[in-house]
Amino acid sequence: MTTSQVLGPIAHTRAELVALDHAHLLHPQHHPADHLNPQIWVSGKGATITDIEGRTYIDGLSGMWNVNLGHGRRELVEAATAQLSTLAFATGYAGSSTVPAIELAERLREVVYPSIEAFYFTSGGGDATDTSIRTARYFFRATGRPEKTKVIALRLSYHGSTVAASSATGVDEFSSVFGPRLPGFVHIPSPYPYRFEGPAGVPAGEAAANLLEQAILEEGAQTVAAFIAEPVQGGGGGVIVPPEGYFQRIREICDRHDVLFISDDVITGFGRTGRWFGLEHWGVEPDIVQFAKGVTSGYIPLGGVGVSARIKSVLDAAPSARRWWHGYTYSGHPVACAVALANIRVIQEEELVSRVEILGRRLRAGLTAGVGEHPNVGEVRGIGLLAGIELVADRETKEGFPADAQVPRRLRAALRERGLVTRVLDNAICLAPPFVTTEDQVDRIVEIVTEAARAVFDRPATPA
Ligand SMILES: Cc1ncc(COP(=O)(O)O)c(C=O)c1O
Repeated sequence: MTTSQVLGPIAHTRAELVALDHAHLLHPQHHPADHLNPQIWVSGKGATITDIEGRTYIDGLSGMWNVNLGHGRRELVEAATAQLSTLAFATGYAGSSTVPAIELAERLREVVYPSIEAFYFTSGGGDATDTSIRTARYFFRATGRPEKTKVIALRLSYHGSTVAASSATGVDEFSSVFGPRLPGFVHIPSPYPYRFEGPAGVPAGEAAANLLEQAILEEGAQTVAAFIAEPVQGGGGGVIVPPEGYFQRIREICDRHDVLFISDDVITGFGRTGRWFGLEHWGVEPDIVQFAKGVTSGYIPLGGVGVSARIKSVLDAAPSARRWWHGYTYSGHPVACAVALANIRVIQEEELVSRVEILGRRLRAGLTAGVGEHPNVGEVRGIGLLAGIELVADRETKEGFPADAQVPRRLRAALRERGLVTRVLDNAICLAPPFVTTEDQVDRIVEIVTEAARAVFDRPATPA
């Protein structure tokens, strides 16, 4: 079968494309068994995406938690086209700059945490993590505390797949198959309200945050450079919203021990939680923020790191030979920055951050009514347009399913059969639909999840 696209007919049949893919393409988290019958996506419109066989689905995860404005937005296409034809690339190395990069830095100051003063652009989230960690280490070395190099992170966190970012990541599989993590990365338990049990009488947020202080004291505060956390743990944790008080306490602890607080807003930035950036929910500001994904709604790769005035002043004051020796060819790529500017403008003009909050409430209420009482659902949780449905074999013991029950695979198939694509982890179904999802589409997501859960859990499993 052949089909046609905007750019003309696709030269290969689906079967040929699949064979070529199997022969020559490696995928993120590559495994052939997961890829026997891949979906080949060819077009998208609003909150829906269509495959090469002409089947249209609701894009329940906005691509990879990133296509926040939905598919086919002319404003973003036009911004990219205009910049491509004016100046596709110029270097951003010291001594050069471009108009879109300068204007994006200015615009970001309007929407990001007030503590953040200056920005460095990357191509994605993993290289943003590396940039944050290198910057934290540089900061302490440049200010006479070179032994402050360690990074403390959360279990179940995901920060990317570079060597340093995967060392910070709290899901062990991302490191274990490649050998040990880099030295100097320490992990503490996730503030996972459904599963975290602190000491009796101490509020959960405070108890979970105290584990950071304990780790800093065990390592020696004079050796710890930074604590990195996602405001809501997404891809590793299954949408874990921390308990009230957690981040306020984390901020106090970081200040007490002069540990820089890095907020990984790669998923939670640009309105996804119903605020521009995730920590706003708790009135907390980080020393370093990192972002990617939603900064361009995924239309073109871009990420970045924002630093406080205190950190910027150290970078500015360095002697030339001891400067911040960090650089990516594509830092501040003019086309990516132009798309980000258009993306932020649309979010502002269409007041999408408040729409996210309203749609998110509708989604959670629907899911709670649909599956909240199901014996294999531990809880329905979320914030803004981020939702997680905790999957359990037993509600009493909170025990998860054994791997051989293949619950994620079966749920993914049941959702897909009914017209919804999204991510299903071992512990949770994750949802993060585009900000432009209609009310009817939100209701349809709820119906599909409810039907799929019943189909998988209330009927006997069929062999793989
Ligand atoms: C919180 C977080 N940080 C970092 C990353 C890595 O981003 P990238 O895949 O663009 O390298 C991700 C990707 O999913 C993420 O969710």
